[in-house]
Formats: sequence, structure tokens, C-alpha cells
Amino acid sequence: MSQQQWTAVDDYFSEVLIGPDEVLEGALAAADDAGLPQINVAPNQGKLLQLLAATRGARRILEIGTLGGYSTIWLGRALPADGTLVTLEIDPAHAEVAEANLERAGLAGRAEVRVGRAVDTLARLAEEDTEPFDFVFVDADKPSNPVYFEWALRLTRPGALIVVDNVVRGGKVADAASTDAAVLGVRKLHELIAAEPRVTATSVQTVGVKGYDGFTLIRVES
Ligand code: SAH
Ligand code: DHB
Ligand code: MG
Repeated sequence: MSQQQWTAVDDYFSEVLIGPDEVLEGALAAADDAGLPQINVAPNQGKLLQLLAATRGARRILEIGTLGGYSTIWLGRALPADGTLVTLEIDPAHAEVAEANLERAGLAGRAEVRVGRAVDTLARLAEEDTEPFDFVFVDADKPSNPVYFEWALRLTRPGALIVVDNVVRGGKVADAASTDAAVLGVRKLHELIAAEPRVTATSVQTVGVKGYDGFTLIRVES
């Protein structure tokens, strides 16, 4: 199996089950125009996020790693009329693109981009003592995944789902001798999950338009 086949199959699924979408395509075009890296979730992965959040009945969604707001739009579409989303981004230029994209998606009133290092904006969220989140998508700097998992646990309520992107690292996640900071982050995340009685989790490998990767799905039980 080759990358070409994975892409052809992803394109087929997305064409049949998603179809043209001016808002999402416009968001990617705006991100491209601004020179942002093309590391957004694939369309069918974005739709998986939407389906998971909707199935959960999420009213409060937290995203760590906004980029141009592509995954944010998918998640925002799962929100009920009174729902809200907070997305955290370190790069002000990325946040600016995301804000314009969220505005065009009709989500400006319900989705808020907070600029800063996520460790700082997460601490601020905790200080604010806001309503807990029902869904968290972790997709920022990979070495910090263990820290983001701990914050996600603090900021969610029982029944919440936490999704962590990019956990396969080209297969190196299985290499206990790896010194790669992202691999160490993902392995430490798995150790924390395994030692945490409040959660149930699984990790799944994927192939597709973005290559070989995978995600971790964590349910907060109590
Ligand atoms: N979720 C997006 C892709 C995010 S890419 C999508 O699928 O559309 C990762 C993003 O995390 C980048 O925009 C990067 O600037 C941001 N990021 C990296 N380190 C960060 C940090 N320490 N705090 C907050 N955001 C960070
Ligand atoms: C990268 C980051 C991502 O979140 C992703 O899904 C793919 C690639 C990266 O930093 O290269
Ligand atoms: Mg990602």
C-alpha cells in the first residue's frame, strides 16, 4: 500500500461523505495565503472530531493548537446554539488567520481564540474557574502532550472525551530507546493514561492523505 492509494481513498471518502464546502475550503485557502504550514487535520478526520463531539453532546469544547482554525470549524459545528469553544494558539499570526476563518464560518460569537503558550492560557482558564469542558482536542507541540493531558483532566467533567492527535510518530512511538522529544512526549502520555484510574483510553493507527499516523481517544470516567 502506498501514500498514493491512501490519498485516493481519503479523497473518495471525503468527496462522497463531505463534498464541497466553501467555508472549510476557504479556511484552508486563507491559511495557505498567509503562509501557514499545511498540518491541519484531513477533512475526514475533522468530520470525525465533529461526530465525536456531537455524539458526546459537547456544549463546552477546548482545543489546544489552533493553526488557521480548520479543525476548530469542524468542532464548532458540533456545538449546540448555546455551546462555546475555546482554542489555544501560541502564534499571533496563526490566531489572526483563525479568527477571520471562524468569523466567516459564523462561529465568531461562540469560538474564542486565546493567544499565548498553552501552559499559560490553560493555567488562566483554571484560574477563571469556568464551566468544565466536555471535549478536548490536543494538537499542539507534541513534547508537551503529558502536560496537556494533566490540564485536560483538570478542566473536564466526567463523561468528557479527550482526543490527542499525531501519536504514532512514524512508528517511533514503539521505540523505548527513542530520544526524540515528540516520541518521549507521546510515550509519557501513554504512561500517565495507564496510571490514571479516572480514564479509559485507546490509541489507533491511521493512514490517509496525511500519511501514517494515529490518535489517542480518552474518556474521563470520574
Ligand atoms: N488543530 C489544527 C492544527 C494545529 S497545528 C488543525 O487541525 O487545523 C499546531 C498548532 O499548535 C500550531 O499553530 C502551533 O503554532 C501551535 N502551538 C505550538 N506550540 C504551542 C504552544 N506551546 N502553545 C500553544 N500553541 C502551540
Ligand atoms: C505536524 C503537526 C500536526 O499537528 C500534524 O497533524 C501533522 C504534522 C507537524 O508539526 O509537522
Ligand atoms: Mg495534528
